[in-house]
Formats: sequence, structure tokens, C-alpha cells
Amino acid sequence: MKQAVEKLILIVFFTFVWAAAGFAETSKSAIASAHPLATKAGFEILAAGGNAFDAAVAVSAALAVVEPGSSGLGGGGFWLLHRGKDGFEIILDGREKAPLAANKNMYLDRNGEVIEDLSKNGALAAAIPGMPAAIVHLAKKYGRLSLAQSLQPAIRYARDGFVPANHYRKLLTVRHPVIEKNPEAAKIFLENGHIPAANFLLKQPDLANTLEKIARFGAAGFYQGETAQKLLADVTALGGIWTQKDLDAYQVIERVPVYGWYYGIKITSAPPPSSGGVVLIEALNILSAYDLTKVTDATRKHLITEAMRRAYHDRALYLGDSDFVSIPLKQLLSPDYAAGLRSSIRADKALPSDFLSGELVEKQTGTDTTHFSIIDAEGNRVAATLSLNAEFGAGFVAKGTGVLLNNEMDDFVSKVGAMNRYGLVGSSANAIAPGKRMLSSMTPTFLEDETRVAILGTPGGSRIISMVLLAVLDFAEHHAPQSWVKLPRFHHQYLPDVIEHEENSFSPETMTALSNLGHQLKQVSSPYGNMQAIELQKKTRQLSAASDPRGEGLAEVR
Ligand code: GLY
Repeated sequence: MKQAVEKLILIVFFTFVWAAAGFAETSKSAIASAHPLATKAGFEILAAGGNAFDAAVAVSAALAVVEPGSSGLGGGGFWLLHRGKDGFEIILDGREKAPLAANKNMYLDRNGEVIEDLSKNGALAAAIPGMPAAIVHLAKKYGRLSLAQSLQPAIRYARDGFVPANHYRKLLTVRHPVIEKNPEAAKIFLENGHIPAANFLLKQPDLANTLEKIARFGAAGFYQGETAQKLLADVTALGGIWTQKDLDAYQVIERVPVYGWYYGIKITSAPPPSSGGVVLIEALNILSAYDLTKVTDATRKHLITEAMRRAYHDRALYLGDSDFVSIPLKQLLSPDYAAGLRSSIRADKALPSDFLSGELVEKQTGTDTTHFSIIDAEGNRVAATLSLNAEFGAGFVAKGTGVLLNNEMDDFVSKVGAMNRYGLVGSSANAIAPGKRMLSSMTPTFLEDETRVAILGTPGGSRIISMVLLAVLDFAEHHAPQSWVKLPRFHHQYLPDVIEHEENSFSPETMTALSNLGHQLKQVSSPYGNMQAIELQKKTRQLSAASDPRGEGLAEVR
């Protein structure tokens, strides 16, 4: 009790001191996103008198056009907001929902086996999109400009076209076999059925029309009327189970973020139905008793891995949509609970994941998605992670809408014991139910200590959380955003029981030491993640922004 009171006093004290320091206002703005045209769209709206929330509408919509393989109107996401003038914080949950006709066995055959592909490709893989409702809500409740004005850059990009860079072709290559089977998607994204050449001008007139309908009619421009009719006609014709009732019922939800502390840094992140914030804070709580700067490189990586293993184990065991299942959130976020988990960590040995208990299913999740970070001159902040799940979602565009649909249904557990696209496992907490939101790993995050504020996040499926964790540890050691975004990455998600790592993440000595501790190591075939980050130095009000060198994004301070 005494400890809890002391912690509360500390939080109130820091909040007061930070607020009194007037750090919230900067003289400039910063935007980091995965595509230069999206960053430019955000600045265009700021220059027109918009705030960070208007800019977030512009960037979200622009990304739907210029990075169509990663997010879009047919998908969803989480928008973490901080209002500069009063410190108010909220997260907009625009996560997709299972259709009302969905059921927990919908991807199983008569023998109870998972039918490969059904939850991944085509109309049955698509959940009810949340992005249109979320951007309308964001503009109306928090923006200063009209929704129509903030959507203009995206509408222009869709109508006039743009030349996609390499990332587009790379994602398309992964999903080509699926996209070529859907004539509408093939017509838009391929060139005569093939991966387009480098000078391909991608024009999306149907998407421009759909965006214009949203600009004019708000959410009704998507969930009702002509767009809704077209969506339902094609989804139903191709084996999907959406109805108008699903579209009418979609609501964006304002949720309280999850909070944690690590060495005087306040962490603000995504609550369920994302697992991001909980797993991040749980791992940081486990690590908070160590001084990672004073141990060998191998010990540091061993301890971080063991923290990841335990936090991802709890993800699989407990997490799902909190509107449907009861989640022991207080326990999972508690430093005392983390101390218990820490007590099973040995310095001389890796713990086999099998030794952690629980009836679990192994489940993969899609590796694509996108993230952007914004701060404006009034100290308003947005960290937003948006997704269609896999590259180009379900690979399916509803005729005449230009809207590429998600395959987020694959983020549910189709069957206990079955692995999803990302090799993730899950329990019945994340089983399919009508109207339920599927568990996400998206981790839009704010960090704040006495002298600095950070806004960050990344795509990358289940690896999102471990990437953000490594960035938080780097922030704690006072490195700049340019360092967080390019850190060599490694990841452990409880099952499979292996440390996945990028090519240069470990020295040969560290690899040997980790193997001797009992860890299995697996180098991934290509670099992963596309982190977009901003840092504000409170005293000098200096801003810096960084875009992951693995991607093609643009981070700017203006
Ligand atoms: N679809 C990726 C995620 O939500 O984590």
C-alpha cells in the first residue's frame, strides 16, 4: 500500500513538474512516415492551419493511397493521441471486427483441421474495416479543419497517380499469386498481370471517388449508400459473409492507453485489443531490476530474450478483445507480477519455452502494416499504427470501390494449437466471435522522462513489440531517434522457442555465448521493420525525427 502511494505521489509530482515546465509547446512540427508523399500530405495540412490530428487524418488517408499494400480504407489501426494544451491522452481503436455471421470454427474443415488460405486470402478473410470510421472520428472530434480539407492530398494522389518505389514492387511480389486471381485488384495494382515496371504510374480513380464520398458524407460515405452496396455485393459474390448490419454496427472506440514506468520513463501505449502495450510494459517491468549497461553484450541479450519470452507467453495465454474476454490487466502491468516472472530467469541458462504452462495455440500474424508519428507546434502528438495485416491484405478489391480489403481475420486464433502467419500462438481469449476485434501487436507508443518526449512505432507483425522494446531500451540510454530506427533487431516470442535476428545483430562471441546458454538462433532472410520516430528535447524544444533506413519513408522537422 505504502509503495502504491509513493508511486502515485511520484507520478503526480512528475506530471506537475513536466506540465509546469511548459514543454508541451515546440516552435516547429515533425512528421515521420513510411512514404514521402504521406509526410508531405501531413505538412500540407499543418501549413493550412491544421493541428497534428488533422495532419494524422491526411497522413492516414495518403498512406492508404501511396502505400496500398500496407494499410488502407479496407483495414484498421490504432491512433494514440496526446493533446498539448492539457495533456489529455486517448487511443482511437479503429481495429477491424469479425462479421456478425462469423463463428469460431469458420476456418476448420469437417475434421476440425484449419483450411489453409481461408483466413488469409479473399473475401472470407476480411473483417469489417475500422479505418474510415476512425479518420472521420479523429477529424470531427480532435481536428481543426474539415474532414474534406484533410482528405484532399490523398484524393489528389489517388486521382493524379504517383510512381511507386521499390517497396511497392517488393510487397506485390510476395502477394502476386493472390492478387492476380482477383481481376479488380490485378487491374489496379499489376501491369498486364505482371509486377509493374519502375516507371509505372499508379492511378486509383475508384479509390479517389470513395475518399470523396467519405469527405462529403463522413462515415456514411463508406458504411452506407453506394460504397457499402458495392462492398457487400462483391464480398458476398466471392464467398464473404458481410451484411449491411455489420457495416451499420461498426463503431470506433476511445480507449484509455496502458501506462508503465521504466527507469523514470513514462510509457504510454496501446491497450487490448492490441497486445502491444501490455507485452512491452511487462517486458520492461521484468528488465527494470537489471542495469543492462553494466553487463556483457551476451548477458544483456540473454536477459532481454528471457523478458520477451515471458511477456509473449502471457500474450498468448491471456490477451484478446477486452470487450469479450476478461483480461487480468492489473496483474500483467504490475511490477510485482514482473518480479515473480523475473525470479525464474537464470543468468547461466535459457528457460525452454515448454516449461511455461498453459493450453495454447500457435498462430501466425501478417508482417506488413505501417506506422507514422507526428508532433505539432502546440505539442499535440499522434502515434498511429495501421494495417491490412498481410501485404496487400486479402489481395481482394471490391469492384468499383478501389478499396483493398484486409485479411485481419487471420489475427484470430482459428484453432487452439494451430500457428498463424507470424508463428504466434494464442488461447481461446483470441478465438473468433461475432463482432469481436482480433488481437493485434500494433504498438504506437509515447515515451516521456524529465527532459525528453518520444513518439514511435513500427510495422512488423508479432515483431512490432520487440522492435519497440529495443528502441525503448536505446532511448533509456539517451541515444537519438536515428539510433532507435536502425538498431540491429532480434526477437523471441515464446513459441517458436528461437531467437530470430537480423544479419548483424550479434557478434560471433555473443552468438556462441547465447548458444552455450541454450538459446537457439535463427537469422531471418531479410531485415525487418520500418520504424518512424520523433524526439522532443523539452528544455531546448529541439525536435529530431528519423525514418527507418530499411524503408523508403521520410522524417522531417519544419
Ligand atoms: N495485423 C497485424 C497486427 O495487428 O498486429
